[in-house]
Amino acid sequence: MRHGSWMLPWLQPDRFPLYLAPMAGVTDTVFRGLCKELGADVTVTEFVSAEGILQADERTRKYTDFDEPQRPLGVQLFGADGKRMGEAARKITDWKRPDFIDINFGCPVNKVVAKNGGSSLLKDCPLLTNVASELVKASPVPVTAKMRIGWDSENVNALDVCRRLEDAGIQAIAIHGRTRAQGYTGLANWDVIGMCAEAVKIPVIGNGDIASGHDVERRRRETKVRGIMIGRAAMGNPWVFREAKHYLGTGEHLSPVTMEQRFEFMLRHTRLALVSNRYKDEISAMRSMRNRLMTYTAGLPGGKHLRAKFCHVSSVAELEDIAAEHLAATSRGSHVADANASTSEEGELLVAA
Ligand SMILES: Cc1cc2nc3c(=O)[nH]c(=O)nc-3n(C[C@H](O)[C@H](O)[C@H](O)COP(=O)(O)O)c2cc1C
Repeated sequence: MRHGSWMLPWLQPDRFPLYLAPMAGVTDTVFRGLCKELGADVTVTEFVSAEGILQADERTRKYTDFDEPQRPLGVQLFGADGKRMGEAARKITDWKRPDFIDINFGCPVNKVVAKNGGSSLLKDCPLLTNVASELVKASPVPVTAKMRIGWDSENVNALDVCRRLEDAGIQAIAIHGRTRAQGYTGLANWDVIGMCAEAVKIPVIGNGDIASGHDVERRRRETKVRGIMIGRAAMGNPWVFREAKHYLGTGEHLSPVTMEQRFEFMLRHTRLALVSNRYKDEISAMRSMRNRLMTYTAGLPGGKHLRAKFCHVSSVAELEDIAAEHLAATSRGSHVADANASTSEEGELLVAA
């Protein structure tokens, strides 16, 4: 069955959805739920291999867990065998009923590229087309794609790839405006994203370096993208979705969240991680939260001091103590010097919050 005529409800012409970008190790079910509460319209799971689904691998099951409020939600698959991916799409749809399946044509990681998955398909357009059409044929739910603009600066083929994906029956394409060779360096090329959005009829969602409501508004105004996807900025500043919605609606920025609200959020995130089924015990959950806590406080008054503590934090009770102590010190004004010493990158995060 081909789904060429499906119109995804969240991409109707009068809508302009904000997607939370899939980020392996970051956008698990807990974080997706939190971002959805803060205004993200569409969420996508971390990428999982089609083979992992077919083998009913336990970890793959966990990676694809989601709750109803996270809808519309897509499960993101990577792989290079269209038939197997089609089978995986059917199986995951039976298990979890996602709203759509998303194909990863962007992952730059060697482990994935070595198996011909992710961005390596950008180098082999016939195979990419085959994967997309087999998946569209087999999938009981609509299929979307996420891609980079090309393999490297000599091979920026996003336009050709988008046309092929559209012909294959893909319903929407998220484009990260970097090549595979760039990794996360340099700037996302929004000219190429804009060109693709003009060239195809299916919706293009723009992705790359969006960190504020102002960024969202600018890309919406300057290109024909039909939605925006936000990744790294949301890691430390999940409020970016709320801020962007407010800015789109009023042309004004929201005040940054207070330190109390930030800690409240960090504690809530940590407690939810603890009761999720992702970690076997408190210490494993806390280990995985350490980096996240550091990201939440980058550039804030006393951030350096906090990060030294987060490196070792091993229980929620300890985190509660750190929060209480920090808030008491902040009210005494003892973190001002530390804030002044923060790097410019951290400073930007502070402004973005
Ligand atoms: C830690 C991390 C993990 C990522 N994992 C995935 C993934 O599983 N699937 C995917 O399509 N993209 C993945 N990406 C790419 C992001 O979805 C996004 O395209 C990229 O970060 C650019 O958007 P940004 O500038 O808003 O961060 C990942 C990025 C990061 C930083």
